[in-house]
Formats: sequence, C-alpha cells, structure tokens
Amino acid sequence: MTDDMLDRLVGKLDLERKVRLLTGVTTWRTAAEAAIGLREMVFSDGPAGVRGEAWDERRTSCLLPSASALGATWDEALLRRLGGLLAAEAVRRGVDVVLAPTLNLHRTPLGGRHFECFSEDPELTGRTGAALIRGLQEHGVAATAKHFVANDSETDRLSVDVRVSERALREVYLAPFEAAVDAGAWVVMAGYNGVDGTTMTAHPLLAEPLKGEWGFDGVVVSDWAAVRTAEEPARAALDLAMPGPASPWAADLVRAVRAGRVPESAVDEKVRRLLRLARRVGALGDVPRRRPPLPDEGVRRLLRHAVAAGAVLLRNDGVLPLDPGGLGTVAVIGEHAASPRVQGGGSAGVFPSAVVTPLAGIRACLRGRGRVTYTAGPSTDAPPEPLDAGRCTDPRSGEPGLLLRCLDAEGRELRAERRLSGRLLEPELAPDTHTVEIRALLRPDTTGAWTFGIGGFGRMTIEVDGHVILDGTYPRETDDPAIVHVTPPLHTATGRLERGRHVHLVARRELVPGSGRATVLAAAPPRRAPDEALAEAVEAAHGADAAIVVVGTTEHDETEGYDRTHLSLGDAQNDLVRAVAAANPRTVVVVNSGGPVELPWRDEVAAVLLAWFPGQEAGAGLADVLFGRREPGGRLPTTWAATLADAPVTRTRPVDGRLDYTEGLHVGHRAWLRAGTRPAYWFGHGLGYTTWEYGEVDAPARIEPNASFTVRVEVRNTGTRSGREVVQVYLARADSAVERPARWFAGHAAVRAEPGGSVVAEVVVTPRALRHWSSRDGGWCVEPGTYRLIVGRSAGLVEHETDVTVGHPPEDRNA
Ligand code: BGC
Repeated sequence: MTDDMLDRLVGKLDLERKVRLLTGVTTWRTAAEAAIGLREMVFSDGPAGVRGEAWDERRTSCLLPSASALGATWDEALLRRLGGLLAAEAVRRGVDVVLAPTLNLHRTPLGGRHFECFSEDPELTGRTGAALIRGLQEHGVAATAKHFVANDSETDRLSVDVRVSERALREVYLAPFEAAVDAGAWVVMAGYNGVDGTTMTAHPLLAEPLKGEWGFDGVVVSDWAAVRTAEEPARAALDLAMPGPASPWAADLVRAVRAGRVPESAVDEKVRRLLRLARRVGALGDVPRRRPPLPDEGVRRLLRHAVAAGAVLLRNDGVLPLDPGGLGTVAVIGEHAASPRVQGGGSAGVFPSAVVTPLAGIRACLRGRGRVTYTAGPSTDAPPEPLDAGRCTDPRSGEPGLLLRCLDAEGRELRAERRLSGRLLEPELAPDTHTVEIRALLRPDTTGAWTFGIGGFGRMTIEVDGHVILDGTYPRETDDPAIVHVTPPLHTATGRLERGRHVHLVARRELVPGSGRATVLAAAPPRRAPDEALAEAVEAAHGADAAIVVVGTTEHDETEGYDRTHLSLGDAQNDLVRAVAAANPRTVVVVNSGGPVELPWRDEVAAVLLAWFPGQEAGAGLADVLFGRREPGGRLPTTWAATLADAPVTRTRPVDGRLDYTEGLHVGHRAWLRAGTRPAYWFGHGLGYTTWEYGEVDAPARIEPNASFTVRVEVRNTGTRSGREVVQVYLARADSAVERPARWFAGHAAVRAEPGGSVVAEVVVTPRALRHWSSRDGGWCVEPGTYRLIVGRSAGLVEHETDVTVGHPPEDRNA
C-alpha cells in the first residue's frame, strides 16, 4: 500500500474518527477503524523481554540480560539476533510494537534506569540500539526508540527541565536517536521530561531534527500519560497519546480543531503516520498473522550465550577459568547466588518461566565432577520479596500459590482466583470491587521475627492468623505511573513465626480512585545473626579449592522511578567478600548489578566478573564463563568509578525544577580524561582468557572530510586459547579551534584468533566521528587539520597513536 493510498484512507474519515485513532483505547492498544480495515495495534514493554498486555505472572516471557549487559557485548550481530528473539516473543504475544530500545545514556552512575540503557557513549549506544531495532523490525515488529530525549535520570522525571547546550544535545544525547532513525526505527517515544523549558511531548525537536532533517516517517508516541494538555502536543509533532481511553486528546482535540487552534492538517498527518505504522506491522488490510521467527539456535541457548557475551571480567590473577575437572570442592557464597537479581525494576519487568540461578548453573556444570557447597552469608538489606508459589499455598484449593479475592464494601466476595505471586500489578477486578484481598498459608522454614510487607496506596492491612500487624493509610504521593502501578513503596511490620507452623496471612487494600492498580504482599524470614553467617561463609571458603562469591544490588537500589543515592554494596556484602578472600586466595567475585557499584576489595580478590542483570539463563551463562566453556565476552560500556565521590558527573537532582547538564560534551570517559583522574575501570575495559599483542596499524594519513575511513589493526593471540579481542579507536584534537572532548570513541571491531594466530581488525570510522555541531552555523562542521588517532584496548589503555589529517572541504579549496 503506497503513501497515496494511505492518504485516501485518511480522506475517508471525519474529524471525530481521525482523532479517535490518536489515543489508545486501553493501556496497551490503539483503536481499530473497520471502515478502513485498520485493526487495533498492541504495544508492550520492553526492553528486557516482551511482557504482553497483562502484568500477570502466569503469562511468562523470555527474559534477556539487561541493556547494560547488552551494551557490554560490543556485538551488533548478537544484538540483531536478540532483536529477532524479541520479535518472536512479540508475535507469540500478539504484540505489534515493542517499547524498546532505551537509548538514553549512562550520564551518571546514579541513574535509576541505568540498567535499561546501553552505555555512557553515544556512538556505542547508537550502534547497539540500531542493531536491536533491525533485528526486531526485519520480522515486521516495530521497535520504539525511547525516551526522546535527555531522559537520563529519574528524579522528578515527570517534570524535570533538562538544560543542555545545543551542541551537547546534538553530539551526545540526540546522536543515538539519529542512529535509530538511520536504522529505520518505526516508532520514537517522547519522554516525560522537558528540555530547555518545553516538555518533550510538545517539543519542537520532534519536528526538527527528528521528522524534518532526519526524515523520520514513523509515529511519535508519548511516554505513558506524558500528554497533559491537548493543544501544544497536537500542534507539535507528537502523533499518538498513550495510554487510553482517558487522555486530554480524547476529549479536547476535536474541539481545538473546530475552534481553529489546531489545524486539521496536523491531525491528518498524525493519522497518516499511524496508518503507515499499521501497514508496516500488518495491521492494515487483510494481512495474515505472522508466524514467530524463532532463533535457529534455540531460545535458551541464545540467552545463555548472551549472558557470557556481556559478562565483563574486570580482573583475573589467573584463577579463571576454573578447571571443572580439577576441583574437589567449590564454595558458592552469597544470597545473590541462590536468589540473583535477573532484571531491574519498573515498566521493563517481565515474568520469566524459570531462572537458572548462579548456584544451579555451577552445580549443573560440576555434577559428577566436584562438590559444591552453598552458604548465604550475612543478609543484605534487601526489602522482603513478594511471596510466591514456592513458599505458600492457596488456603482454598490447597495448591501452591495465593488466593486473590475481590470484595465489595460489605466484604462479600465478588471474584476469586489462585495466583502464583503476591505481586499483583493489574489483577482482573470485578465491577464494584472495594477491596483487594490476598490470602496465603505460609510455611515458615525459620523461627523468629519475620518481616511482612504490603505495597500499594490507600488503606492497607496485614493480618497474621487473625492478628492485625499493620493497619495504615498511605496516600499516593506521586503521579509517576511506574511507581503507582508497578513498584509502589512497601510498608512493613514484623511478626514472630515458628518453623513448620503454618500461618494464615491476609493482606487487604481498599481501592479508592487514583490509588493505582498494584497490591503487593511480601515476606522475609528473620535475618541471620551476621557474625554467625560470616563465620559459616569463611569456614566454607576455607575448606574449598575455590570460592565463588556472588554479591549484588537490591530492588532498593536500581529501579525505574527513583535514582540511586549511593553505589555501595553495603557493609554486609563488602565484609563478606573481604573475609572470604582472606580465607581463600582463589576467590572469584561475581557482581550482580545493572550499573556501577563500588568494589573496595577489588585488588584483594583473585577475580572480579560482572554479570549485570543477566536474565533468565543467568547461572547457565555464568557457569560457562567461570569454567571456561566460553570466554567472558564483555567490555565495559561505561566507566566505573572507584567511589561515587570520584565520579565526575553525578547530579540527578533538579534545582528549582532544572537539571543543568553543565558538563556539556564531557560525559563518561571523556569527563575522566578531561579531569585527568583515574577510574577503577575504563570504558572499553574487559579481559578475555587469552592475551594479545598489538602489531601494525594501518590508517590513512590523509582523509577527505565527510568520508568514512578504515583503520586496520593487526593483533596476535599470544595466549593458549582461542579468543575474541575488541579493538577500539578513539580520536583527539589538541589544537582545535572548538571545544572538544579530551578523547572520544570513534569505532571498534571485534576479531577472533586461535593461539599464535594473527588477524587484522578493520575498524570503520564514519564521518560522524569527525564532525561537530556548530550552533553559530546551525549545522554540522568538519574542522580541517590533524587529529590524533588512538588505538586502544579501553579509553585509558592506549596501544598505538598516529595522526590523520582531514583535508579542507571542496568548497574551501576552490575559494
Ligand atoms: C516508562 C516507559 C514505558 C511506559 C509503559 C513509562 O513509565 O517510562 O519506558 O514504556 O511506562 O510501561
């Protein structure tokens, strides 16, 4: 169907019908219009998996590693395959548009959604995101580049006004979106935040450069509930207000057009774009349903491979890889080994059907070969976990799970069903439901003071065997949908339980308008006495041939809607690592976090491996790396500070509503290099299991402006196993007439070689790397002259330097 045909379809609709299409009919669906053969289109989060329309633990989805882990792969081919997997999941769930990838940057380590973004670097983010977009869309499922733009932290995210220079915007924050549009993205999401005084859903940037200069011909959708007024976003280039049916557009846009305040041509253009999207995803006309394009290699195998490909080995004194045949006993230690965090918190969450824990992965690998012991060590300060079917039974059916009941104002049951989790985010409610009730029979496995938690807003109570232990009214103090509907704060109380003696838990939440959809019932056993738990871990480490300690962040630390306040793993975990390392020189620490954490013991342990939030195949992929079945493939997508105090850019808190990006272009490794300070680990750093020698570098001495060029770097595998090396190219310009980053990332190539083998890495540097934005000229410029070309293994580890001279543009030469 050509664009002319789309125009004819638009012409068939009157104003009301057109406007009706521009707001969702539900939280996740757009409207259908039978008169023109348009069906509803289904949207779903993204990016760690495709949840589908329901927040329901019974409808499971594949869970990928977090975006920070994918950013660490530096592997566009893998990202494309993972995009294909997301497409398969989307088709399976009847989803047309996946709300991924997130292309905001790791501007500060404190960003609450750091785990959901790829990198600190615009070039790496753009390439990674573009590959994922291609992988999704080549199967007819739309990708969504989000959140346009400068939505890099969470504090006051609905209202924050980001102040950022035009040049930094163009070169740093808009750049990944430009790459996404180049890759053909069909949808872009406008963020909640404002930039330079205008909220993004009504921002002129949607028109220029997005739709004009870059030629984006898809749909600009609002972030969920980000449209707050009818006219400005309608006059601006926003196309679709989500969710629905309530939205300022639904009620007011027709009136505004009739009164001449919004031109009807603007509405037509939005509808045309929506129909183009529908055509692309097969929602227009009589198109047969697509079949899921399953990855050839099998889903679990692909996800397992992705875990290893993103795992970053920060340090290794030779202990890794462990020899699975040569180990008597391995001591696995730490709560995260048995209960890893496999995904970050917030709208990206999905329900995996099963998770391979690090402990299970290690056990599977050593089965029949070595003995594995497990000790949890001291408890972290994690909030209680939502109850699940593994720990309690539904008192009515006696089956594993919990009983959800909808009650009317008199307490009469209107509806009931068994659920598998105490985290009920969008339960199906009967009409007239006044109270949501969750009942569970809990079998305590420990005696002592248990902590119970209830999450949600409004009046809530918890009873244990008929005794009320919590009764409070918690008014909603935010409009943020991710907090109201997904991660509401938990309120806790304690109660003493005895091991093996069942207790009947009843949690109730009264529904009042605006109190959100989520109700969460959580419970945690008493904390172990820290000294005892530590002593147990030390003893286990002592008697083992190697110790693997898994430490990580908690849901407190990394979740949408909140920024982090610190980067510490907490005393309990830091003390644990130190004590275990003192007891066993062969101590490997696996770090389970979505973003940077402080590793104060990093030089005292034999190896440090970053697992990120590894997704459902966590333990399988990690065991592959730990026992040498695979190399750790990851390189840091973001510079890690030794301490938060060292990090050059940390501010996330707006002042008087404004968040100034005063660092301008100097984000990530650029900021460290400018300050002349050393991080703990540089952008690009990561070890494999072999060693490399860098040889000859072949780069053109002179290049034309606006032309790509190739840098050829010979590398030789000097180790004893085959491996993959990520060769990186940076640029610098000391005597520039314009302000420049001290050094900026320009491109990379990954190569493989067998032991003793040499291979040439070909790094293509695109014209984008040599251009800068001139606000004075309102355009891109290339400064002629000599640039320093740096070949490195990270932003801080230089292997080779040379000069490359950029000629004058042809028009200057003729002058
Ligand atoms: C998030 C988006 C997400 C949307 C729908 C918003 O709160 O910022 O990333 O796609 O919710 O869940």
